[in-house]
Amino acid sequence: MRKKIVAGNWKMNNNFHEAEDLLIEIDEMMTDNPVPGVAVVLCVPFPYLEMATDMAKESNFLVGAQNLYPGESGAFTGEISAPMLASLETDVCIIGHSERRKYFHEDNALLAEKVKSALKYEIIPIFCCGETLAEREKGIHKEVVENQLKESLFHLNPDGFSNVVIAYEPVWAIGTGVNATPEQAQEMHSFIRYIVAKKYGEPLAGETSILYGGSCNSANAGVLFAQPDVDGGLIGGASLKAEEFWKIVQSFDNP
Ligand code: PGA
Repeated sequence: MRKKIVAGNWKMNNNFHEAEDLLIEIDEMMTDNPVPGVAVVLCVPFPYLEMATDMAKESNFLVGAQNLYPGESGAFTGEISAPMLASLETDVCIIGHSERRKYFHEDNALLAEKVKSALKYEIIPIFCCGETLAEREKGIHKEVVENQLKESLFHLNPDGFSNVVIAYEPVWAIGTGVNATPEQAQEMHSFIRYIVAKKYGEPLAGETSILYGGSCNSANAGVLFAQPDVDGGLIGGASLKAEEFWKIVQSFDNP
């Protein structure tokens, strides 16, 4: 059975004290209204990783970073490596978010290196893929996503790939308030699973968690997560309020 996952991507939000409050509030929700069978991941800014991983020792959530640099160590001013994240007991790392691709010009080849580096240090990559509006309007969205998967993930052997989580995040849905319809999400998720099955076989494709991201909130999560190939969500804006985030975690089997 593949895992159900809800991951919050806090992006560049919250100062240290606000982050601490939010972690405490989410932890309280978790204790008061646990949702068995759903893995909850909080992808916090780098400076808060230690606080989050400390708290996670007494709690039930996993802690994620939002990026890493694929070098081991050395003269890369301002960058953070996978072994650094691993030394803070970081469980997960978002790789290839569309904001990284757009603002920091990260391409598929660099992302392949980042994925390799994360896996080497036993950090689970949440690998993001997804098309822009222009690409969807041209009707090449499937081709674009297939290429992203091929060029950044398909160098992995089956063992490596079995530790990857995929997030389908159409760029036009991120932070816009316009989510993909459940039908659009299901179509792309089943396509992604088909591409993975062609490369790694049906059993491994069936075990791969594929999350949806892009304006997912408590009002639409239930129906999105009810799609057969949607295994949860990568949540941006709606992960910054504990109550809203927790409603999303509770949305499985609750369309
Ligand atoms: P959003 O962001 O939920 O604010 O649209 C999702 C993401 O960027 O991961």
